[in-house]
Amino acid sequence: MEPKVVLITGCSSGIGLSLAVNLASNPSKEYKVYATMRNLDKKQRLLETVRGLHKDTMVILQMDVTDHQSILDAKSKVTEDRIDILVCNAGVGLMGPLETHSIDTIRGVLEVNLLGTIRTIQTFLPDMKTRRHGRILVTGSMGGLQGLPFNDVYCASKFAVEGACESLAILLQHFNIHVSLIECGPVNTDFYMNLKRTELSDDQLEMDAYTRSLYKEYLKHCQSVFQNAAQDTDDIIQVYLEAIQAQTPLLRYYTNTALLPMSNLKLSSLDGSQYIKAMSKLIFSPPNPNTDAQI
Ligand SMILES: NC(=O)c1ccc[n+]([C@@H]2O[C@H](COP(=O)([O-])OP(=O)(O)OC[C@H]3O[C@@H](n4cnc5c(N)ncnc54)[C@H](OP(=O)(O)O)[C@@H]3O)[C@@H](O)[C@H]2O)c1
Repeated sequence: MEPKVVLITGCSSGIGLSLAVNLASNPSKEYKVYATMRNLDKKQRLLETVRGLHKDTMVILQMDVTDHQSILDAKSKVTEDRIDILVCNAGVGLMGPLETHSIDTIRGVLEVNLLGTIRTIQTFLPDMKTRRHGRILVTGSMGGLQGLPFNDVYCASKFAVEGACESLAILLQHFNIHVSLIECGPVNTDFYMNLKRTELSDDQLEMDAYTRSLYKEYLKHCQSVFQNAAQDTDDIIQVYLEAIQAQTPLLRYYTNTALLPMSNLKLSSLDGSQYIKAMSKLIFSPPNPNTDAQI
């Protein structure tokens, strides 16, 4: 049987790297993996993880999702002339009070998370449509389903990806192309360390004292969540495999059921008030009455 040809974005670390290694290590050689990354200087980590075992099942290519030409160049190096499974995984984070981010920084996040995902899908979609065959998997986030304080831009980018994927899924089922989002909560990768964040120590920033104190509280919460509740990439890869191996893949797969009650709350109370109250309580606990304000 011919191997399924998979192209994955963002394979220099984290989920992309683990997925590439897992699929390329498939004992029956069911997959040929094009593991792409924007900076090939970082390929050592991937090479060390595969330990040179998978010369015939993995090819590493340069691909920056913000650069259309680099996507086209990567596509032209796929010797099979087809992609059966496209994995849009590359992403960046941004944390801090909205007013502290420059528009260029905000644009940079949207450029990778939203436009990068759309640009990648656009490039590979026409061939999939012609062949009436394909799977598109996207690394989604709890931040694409639920608003999170101090993650306004990241959530905006991931919510937008949800909208794009849900919309595409409706049309693409007519082409036998399945779109799936792998919705992740916190995962032990370089993501938290790499994400751009407003530093509390920077007192030049336009941030009032009350926002500063809430942000401090949020950072503590966030650190504790990443320390105590983050999943390992292996858990995420199992969910990826479930989606890849499904006969009829679903639109959404959740890697962490602990996230579901909040999503359910959003659906059961459509005016949003219950969700806002519950999330605020969870993060800024004990709740800050107005009298606490140190303005
Ligand atoms: N970790 C979490 O807690 C978490 C939770 C929910 C969702 N996610 C999502 O999971 C995905 C993967 O993140 P991760 O956790 O594995 O973090 P990660 O280890 O930081 O990996 C992110 C990957 O995206 C790549 N990337 C960034 N900008 C790119 C660009 N312009 N073109 C191509 N690649 C680019 C990075 O490359 P460089 O090394 O060159 O920067 C890196 O390979 C992201 O979409 C993220 O939003 C992560």
